[in-house]
Amino acid sequence: MALAYSGGLDTTVAIHWLKEKFNAEVITVTVDVGQDDDFKDIEERAYKAGAIRHYTIDAKREFAEGPVAMAIMANALYEDKYPLGTALARPLIAEKVVEIAKREGCDAIAHGSTSKGNDQVRFNEALMALAPDIMIIEPAKIWGMNRAEEIEYARKHGIPIPNIHSRFSIDDNLWSRSIEGHEIDDPSVEVPEDAFKWTVPPEKVDKPLTLEIEFSEGLPVAINGEKMDLAGLVSLLNRVVGMHGFGRIDHIENRVVGFKSREVYEAPAALTIIEAHKDLEKLVYTPLEYRFKKIVDQVWTDLVYNGLWHEPLREELDGLIRTMNRWVSGIVKVKVFGGLTILGRESPYASYSKDLVDYVSGWYPSEEEARGFIKMHVLHSLMAYRARHRA
Ligand code: ARG
Repeated sequence: MALAYSGGLDTTVAIHWLKEKFNAEVITVTVDVGQDDDFKDIEERAYKAGAIRHYTIDAKREFAEGPVAMAIMANALYEDKYPLGTALARPLIAEKVVEIAKREGCDAIAHGSTSKGNDQVRFNEALMALAPDIMIIEPAKIWGMNRAEEIEYARKHGIPIPNIHSRFSIDDNLWSRSIEGHEIDDPSVEVPEDAFKWTVPPEKVDKPLTLEIEFSEGLPVAINGEKMDLAGLVSLLNRVVGMHGFGRIDHIENRVVGFKSREVYEAPAALTIIEAHKDLEKLVYTPLEYRFKKIVDQVWTDLVYNGLWHEPLREELDGLIRTMNRWVSGIVKVKVFGGLTILGRESPYASYSKDLVDYVSGWYPSEEEARGFIKMHVLHSLMAYRARHRA
C-alpha cells in the first residue's frame, strides 16, 4: 500500500495503524512542492514508524511550471482572496503517489485527509481519475482518535512523534502557507502574531522596496532585470516581499464541504505577481477581452478550489487562458511598503496610446464627431427612458 506521507502526526500514526489493521506493507511517498520541511528527517521518521520503503519526490519545478504558472495566468484568487496554494498542490501530490503505487504494484493508496476539509475531495478526485482500480483508504476518517489519543497511540507503539512547532494546522508549499485552527476558528478575534512565519507585520517595516517584474507571455521571468526560473523567482519574492510586510490574507471562505471557515494565509509572492499580472493584462487587453477573461478566471479558480482538477472544462480553459496570455508581456514596477502599489507598467502589446489620451497636444475628435458618437451611444437607453417617463 502507498501512503501520501507529509511527515506530520496523522500520517506518521497512519503508517503503524495501516500495518496493524490491514497487515499492509506501507510504502511512504513524500512530495516536495516547496514546503519548509526537512526531508531527511521525514524519511527517517517514516522508517522508524514502520514503512518498508520511502520515496521523496522533488516536484518543486513541476509544481511551479505547471499548476502555479496556470494560476498566475488565471489570476487565481478564490473568492477574491485565496491564491489556492493547497488546492493546486493536491492533484500533483496524488499524481506522484499514483506513479509510485503503480510502479510498486500497490492495490491501495492511503492519505491523511479528515472528513471536514476540502483536501479529501481534491485527493480522491485525482486518485479516482488516475487510478480507478486502486482502493482508497483514509485512516483519519476511520480510526476515531483525536489528537491526544493519536499521541497516546504513538507512545504506546514507539512511533516517533514529529516536532510540532505550531498549535495551528499548517499546510505550506511554494505558492502559499495555509494556517487554520485554534484561536483562528473564532472569526471575530485578531490572528495572533505567532501564526505567521513568512511575513512581518507592516508596522515593523522601515523602508519601502521597489521591484521591476518582467513578464513574458503571462509569466514573470525576471526581477530587477535578473532572469530567474519560476520556482526561484517565487521563493525570492516570498522572502523579500514578506520581509516588507506584505502577503497576509484573512478571510471567511466558503468551503466545498458545505460550511464557512475563517482562513488565514501568507502568500507574498502570489499576491504580488497576480496584482502585477492583472495590471499588465489591463494594459494589453481590449475591454471585451478584459471582462471576458475575468469570468474565465473565476470559473477556472472555482473548479480548482472545488477539487475538480480533472473536469475536462478545466483543461479547455487552460488552453484559452494560455492563448490570451500570449500578449501579456512587459514590465510592471511595484512598491512594497506594508501594502502593494503599482508604480508603472509598459508592454510592447499595450493597446494604450498617450496621444489619444493627452489633453494638451493629442488627438481631438471634432465637436460633430463627438456629438454623433454620443447620440448613437445613448440611443437605446434614451428610447427606453422616454417610453417609461412619457408623462
Ligand atoms: N482552506 C484551504 C483550502 O481548502 C487550505 C486548506 C489547508 N489544508 C490543511 N490540510 N491544513 O485549500
